[in-house]
Amino acid sequence: MTIGFILNGEDVVIQAEANRRLIDILRELFHLLGAKKGCLAGNCGACLVIYNGNVTGACLIPAFRIRGCEIITIEGFSQTNEYQDIVIGFSEAGVENCGYCDTGKILTAEALLGRNSRPDRDTILAAFNGIKCRCTDPETLVEGVLAAADIRQRRLYGRAL
Ligand code: FES
Ligand code: FES
Repeated sequence: MTIGFILNGEDVVIQAEANRRLIDILRELFHLLGAKKGCLAGNCGACLVIYNGNVTGACLIPAFRIRGCEIITIEGFSQTNEYQDIVIGFSEAGVENCGYCDTGKILTAEALLGRNSRPDRDTILAAFNGIKCRCTDPETLVEGVLAAADIRQRRLYGRAL
């Protein structure tokens, strides 16, 4: 089927089988490799993208559901101030990073901060429950998200909450 959608701000049109996974479309047709193939079952967060404004696993989205939609991958998100808030906050706190889990951690933080500008510790830990990374201890992750929240507040309002 012919499917038109917006990918990282550009109008694109592809030919794809209706049930082809978005993760495969991104990686194989567009060579966007930031979303990783992990569990392919919605459990690990490695494949996250922003889908019509919501952070969603690209492994769970079939091609027929992207027609007319807006998809932002980590490559597109990396061009934003919101991305910088998070990577600087993570770096300040000492959050580990690697090619496998970065996309999941960064977009999970964005999903959380997008609806809660100053989440508490338990909310942060719950949000990251599905992210598969054993390299950063949970308290460091909490510090990283809170640092990102402070950076965002200072950028937007000139002061931390
Ligand atoms: S590969 Fe999509 S959530 Fe794991
Ligand atoms: S830093 Fe990527 S899996 Fe832990």
